[in-house]
Amino acid sequence: MTDKFISIEGIARRYPGASGGTTTVFENLWLSMARGEFGCVIGHSGCGKTTVLNILAGLDEPSEGAVIVDGQAIEGTSLDRAVIFQSHALLPWRTVLGNVAYAVSSKWRKWDRARVKAHAQKFIDLVGLTGSEHKRPSELSGGMKQRVGIARALSITPKIMLMDEPFSALDALTRGTLQDEVRRICLETGQTAFMITHDVDEAIYLADKIFLMTNGPGAVLAEIVENPLPKDRGRIDLHRHPYYYALRNHIIDFLVTRSKSFTADVTNHDPRNVPTVRPGLTEPTIVSSPRAIETSPVQTIAR
Ligand SMILES: Nc1ncnc2c1ncn2[C@@H]1O[C@H](COP(=O)(O)OP(=O)(O)OP(=O)(O)O)[C@@H](O)[C@H]1O
Ligand SMILES: [Mg+2]
Repeated sequence: MTDKFISIEGIARRYPGASGGTTTVFENLWLSMARGEFGCVIGHSGCGKTTVLNILAGLDEPSEGAVIVDGQAIEGTSLDRAVIFQSHALLPWRTVLGNVAYAVSSKWRKWDRARVKAHAQKFIDLVGLTGSEHKRPSELSGGMKQRVGIARALSITPKIMLMDEPFSALDALTRGTLQDEVRRICLETGQTAFMITHDVDEAIYLADKIFLMTNGPGAVLAEIVENPLPKDRGRIDLHRHPYYYALRNHIIDFLVTRSKSFTADVTNHDPRNVPTVRPGLTEPTIVSSPRAIETSPVQTIAR
């Protein structure tokens, strides 16, 4: 049985259209992830990636369908699901320590100040910000602000870390360093993560699974790509792996052609049976004979 730690079950998102009709961003979207997995979503602008992430975060609601996390239907935001946005979204009047401590004390309301501070400090150290605890966001670089965001997200030991293009506004060097840190932390802690990116190499480096979405409106999850590179891959020598170009080309080909042409093929597409492929030295192998995702038994509503 697949471990469906995250299960997106037939969700749709519709908005009122300009001329009185309805615009469907996507519908009947099914996707599941196992505990400890790192999933990246790739697709062109406007296909609905942020909408999916916001629904997972509880910041938005699907027009249809449900999202189950760890056996519970989600409704509204929760400290079980931490979000790291492209913009850091820090409280400007609080220090680094204050920002992280605020999240910690929101999660563990009965903890005294010393315990909150010690816990927050542990995560500030983890992201390499030791010595900057008492700086305010205005005194930090973009990369440092994102580090605070990561420390804040991890400090509440979320069930899922949700990231919406978290490094896209950073310079290449800082982006690389933060990718290394996120990867190290996720591997060490078994953190489940769901990330949106436009950076194919970022997805190849970080993700176990890459979800390919077609163009919107009416976007669909076309394919799940299993990363064939070894778990102990390094960012610097990623391109030396014999499967690297097969994987990269597969994703680029999708973005350049199949993400657009897929609509023509959509009648043969079963959203509950999206194929998982594993690019290799020859043609991509289909690793899972598509199997319908079963609806999860739901226990309680998590808030
Ligand atoms: N409040 C809203 N009202 C109407 N349409 C909306 C609203 N919010 C989002 N949309 C539409 O939903 C679609 C998907 O938006 P979304 O932000 O999820 O895209 P995205 O894939 O994250 O794009 P990008 O890569 O540019 O961030 C877009 O066409 C957008 O215009
Ligand atoms: Mg977006």
